[in-house]
Amino acid sequence: MKQPRHFISLHDLSHAELRGLINRAVELKNKPPADFQPLKGKVLAMIFEKSSTRTRISFEAGMAHLGGTALFLSSKDTQLGRGEPLADSAKVISSMVDCIMLRTYEHSTVTTFAQHSRVPVINGLTNLSHPCQVLADMQTYFENRGDIAGKTVTWVGAGNNMCHSYIDAAMRLNFNLNIACPKGYEPAKQWLDFADDRVQLFSSSMDAAKKSDLIVTDVWASMGEEQEQQQRERDFKDYQVNQALMAQANPDALFMHCLPAHRGEEVTAEVIDGKQSVVFAEAENRLHIQKALLEFLMCA
Ligand code: CP
Ligand code: NVA
Repeated sequence: MKQPRHFISLHDLSHAELRGLINRAVELKNKPPADFQPLKGKVLAMIFEKSSTRTRISFEAGMAHLGGTALFLSSKDTQLGRGEPLADSAKVISSMVDCIMLRTYEHSTVTTFAQHSRVPVINGLTNLSHPCQVLADMQTYFENRGDIAGKTVTWVGAGNNMCHSYIDAAMRLNFNLNIACPKGYEPAKQWLDFADDRVQLFSSSMDAAKKSDLIVTDVWASMGEEQEQQQRERDFKDYQVNQALMAQANPDALFMHCLPAHRGEEVTAEVIDGKQSVVFAEAENRLHIQKALLEFLMCA
């Protein structure tokens, strides 16, 4: 059996493939080929343990645009929620569909699925990473400012799943990444050990943002961390992206956020709804880059 290509991390793509995917997403967005149905008859299974707006809709609409079908499977309504072994579930589901996307708590759920799946598996967010979102962010940067190689990106906030995927992107696309986070909220050791001197940790968000080309943040408490919200509001109070912080960055710096956002917490309304913000283009690009990804994984 031919081993399927999976997309669990940005490192599953070569430099050339990653750049190719970004270019293809821009092409599908601006010049979609007429009557283009490369996924006609193909089925994507989407397994969600957590909530989603953008990920679900972009994969579902993306499959429809390319001629295929997407199945929404809440883990609660399938036997997965009743403890059917992951390996058995992966073997069964992959015998009936052409690609599987999962959004899970444990990262190992996605990697175990991939080990036992005969079709491509896509990471639609785990507690450890969110590579599909960072693909869309990179497309958005390339569209607005050109190549990100050599630029400086500042991540403000928790060393969470998005931050980990930014570390992967910095390594893959050769940009400098400054990470400003409170003590105790640093990225996981396995990501820091792997990162080289392109990635630097800061305790001051103001210092980190200096001369940056892109400022990125995310919610203080991610899905599954809601019970820590109040503690995090105290711990992250100096890590808000506001105009004073944006003023440290280069004048043409962009602002990104994967959404959903909490105005008045990790970002002020003035910044997220302001001129430097590209958050809605970034959200729309989830559709375009995922179409490119689905085409790449299922038509290669
Ligand atoms: N950014 C993102 O993944 O959004 P959803 O949680 O709405 O899918
Ligand atoms: N870090 C956030 C990202 C949501 C898209 C979370 O995991 O909840």
